[in-house]
Amino acid sequence: MRTWTLDIAAPDWKEAPEADAVCAALMAGYLVAVPTETVYGLAADATNGTACAKIFAAKGRPQFNPLISHVQTLDAALEHGVFDERALALAEAFWPGPLTLVVPKRPDSTISDLATAGLQTVALRVPVGPVMRFLAEKTGRPLAAPSANRSGKISPTRAEDVVADLGPSLSFVIDAGACAVGIESTIVGLVDGTPRLLRPGGLAREDIERVLGQSLQGASPDMRPDAPAAPGMLTSHYAPDAAMILNASEVNTADGLLSFGADRLPGADRAQAEFNLSPAGDLAEAAANLFRAMRFLDAKGVRVIKVQFIPSFGLGEAINDRLRRAAAPRD
Ligand code: TXA
Ligand code: MG
Repeated sequence: MRTWTLDIAAPDWKEAPEADAVCAALMAGYLVAVPTETVYGLAADATNGTACAKIFAAKGRPQFNPLISHVQTLDAALEHGVFDERALALAEAFWPGPLTLVVPKRPDSTISDLATAGLQTVALRVPVGPVMRFLAEKTGRPLAAPSANRSGKISPTRAEDVVADLGPSLSFVIDAGACAVGIESTIVGLVDGTPRLLRPGGLAREDIERVLGQSLQGASPDMRPDAPAAPGMLTSHYAPDAAMILNASEVNTADGLLSFGADRLPGADRAQAEFNLSPAGDLAEAAANLFRAMRFLDAKGVRVIKVQFIPSFGLGEAINDRLRRAAAPRD
């Protein structure tokens, strides 16, 4: 594995010699860890089924869940998906950005069946993070990329998290520092008459509903390949080693504490380790810190992480979704 460390604020990172080497690796079907504004992605050429199979093997994903394909522009996305008026409106309003659109797959799309898990639909995203867009443009390939963590573990927001989890599977890791949003993209399904929120994420539901002029419905079972079989049950995901207790009312000695805002829980000062997601109570800051905070408390070796109440509006919906999954019973 080689590391390409770059500063996206510097004007000339695209001219670095590593840029050619990374593109050659992708074209040859190897895996590259690529930063985006949400989380680090485990990227492969989406048109190459063998390369996509390596993603599932590296992650240890039990099933072939469909992957998000990343492209550089809306025009590039139109080569792979059928965009109705609503999809176009959302793409124009929020791309590049932390929004993934699931739309009908074009019959002539070059994206492999393995990337879409054989579905007639395709998940497409134009990220803000310029590295993924640059690589898609330079290779001329859509890039399939799930979060660069082993299945069921915490998503990576820094290159060192990726290396610790997946290093041996990678030909390259591109290190551009910490991800600004810190939580995965919001996924919206636009495949039938009903716009559906398939996964809350880094773009708030309220912003999407404002552009659509209607509210988002929940996922229907056939739209959620990774959904639990029994309604009401949550798949364990994003799990730290410690047990998680949400909406805690008090903190005991030896607990880890994931706090939020300025209010202190009873016993907070007894915590063995604490991470405040946002002392100012800012949900965007809390989202950006969430996965790093879980890793930090886990590394302290606490057996229980107590989580303070976090409101569910705006990005709070995605934060609470990830926390509920982290707290769900594990296999
Ligand atoms: O922010 C993100 O979205 C990150 C970065 C790397 O872009 N990627 C990411 O990918 O979170 P991943 O593989 O962890 O999540 C992809 C999810 C799948 O589990 C599935 O639920 C949904 O996207 N998905 C993909 N294609 C779909 C489809 N055709 N229909 C329904 N859901 C789909
Ligand atoms: Mg993931």
